[in-house]
Amino acid sequence: MAAKSTPEAPAAAAPPARDGTAAHGAPPLFRPGLEGVPATQSAICDIDGRQGILTYRGVPVDQLAHHSSFLETAYLLIWGELPTIFQLNAFQQDVQMHRRVSFRIRDMMKCFPAGGHPMDALQASAASLGLFYSRRALNDPQYITEAVVRLIAKIPTMVAAFQLIRKGQDPIQPRDDLAYSANFLYMLTEREPDQLAARIFDACLILHAEHSLNASTFSARVTASTLTDPYAVVASAVGTLAGPLHGGANEDVLEMLEQIGSPDRVEAWLDQAIASKQKIMGFGHREYKVKDPRAVILQGLAEDLFLRFGHDTMYDVACRLEEVAADRLGPKGIFPNVDFYSGLVYRKLGIPRDLFTPIFAIARTAGWLAHWREQLGANRIYRPTQIYTGSPQRPWLPLESRPAAL
Ligand code: COA
Repeated sequence: MAAKSTPEAPAAAAPPARDGTAAHGAPPLFRPGLEGVPATQSAICDIDGRQGILTYRGVPVDQLAHHSSFLETAYLLIWGELPTIFQLNAFQQDVQMHRRVSFRIRDMMKCFPAGGHPMDALQASAASLGLFYSRRALNDPQYITEAVVRLIAKIPTMVAAFQLIRKGQDPIQPRDDLAYSANFLYMLTEREPDQLAARIFDACLILHAEHSLNASTFSARVTASTLTDPYAVVASAVGTLAGPLHGGANEDVLEMLEQIGSPDRVEAWLDQAIASKQKIMGFGHREYKVKDPRAVILQGLAEDLFLRFGHDTMYDVACRLEEVAADRLGPKGIFPNVDFYSGLVYRKLGIPRDLFTPIFAIARTAGWLAHWREQLGANRIYRPTQIYTGSPQRPWLPLESRPAAL
């Protein structure tokens, strides 16, 4: 087990000096995973991990999930205030106008291997936008606004395009008469979605739109701090989101539920998993010591979908797992996180499993862009220090003088 903090340092210890040495002769602080270390100041999102409260710009996420739309929430996150009706209409229209992606990008995507992961396809296509919009005018408000609109508009189109391309079909064009989420589901399935399905999908995007300084957002801010272009910022964040300890967990949750198979097998499976020190996917969070508030809302959305479109027996497995895990892992503050129920929602919407994380990326683009703007507003390049643990200084040896490998 990795040590949590080495050495245990007083909370109010002086920060390390600029040359990497500790102030006042104290040993430099090292917290693996930067746990508990503030790496920025931010006014975007707040998490109360003990009470299970999440707010975007001060507005509780459950109110947004029930009353807002993804585009309104994105506006709130990125520009800091809920839009007026005029601002919202203008933003929606701008996004609608920029949904299409260049045929060159679609052609490039046709060269991607069909068996490749859609997150890799998304990372490459997001980065390629920088080739088309290469003017890097970070002091120009117009440039910032256009970059925000382009990324929010085009990321879903690229996710849907790769889905069709890998099936050997041509991507279909966005439909101007459909709202953001309905249009994405249409581009993905080639069918106009049911209104409830589109509304629930939109709420899922709201719930995934932002979550303070998680790994991908930190990655976005580090990239932004070099003053590179926003397409590189989003591409680096997509790459970070792809890992199974972050956005990739919702794929693994479904695999785990299917592996368990039925509610009566949950208890034995969980005990064996805990005994073998296996991480239970969809459980645990660095910030929450109670059930993730997003998991509570997603569970409700999953139930709404089951009522309308039929039950999913994997939901019974999930509920039993949550019940048994409360007993085994609850005392350690490990409860379902956002990924535990989101996979069940997407599965009921007929979305292929390896698109779950790209959909997370569609939503989180709003948060990444909010952090991009905030970073630019008070920028200092990220350059942390390290504690060197390697060899002391030693001479280079000619080949014939080197000891034989063991
Ligand atoms: N299942 C079982 N035990 C878990 C666990 C899980 N999902 N998550 C954490 N723990 C345990 C660890 O084994 C460790 O126990 P120990 O101190 O007895 O060794 C303790 O809780 C702390 O875990 P740690 O991995 O240090 O927490 P973290 O803050 O670094 O990790 C996550 C947070 C999210 C990476 C971690 O909970 C995890 O891997 N969860 C599964 C993947 C997942 O669902 N990710 C999506 C996050 S939204």
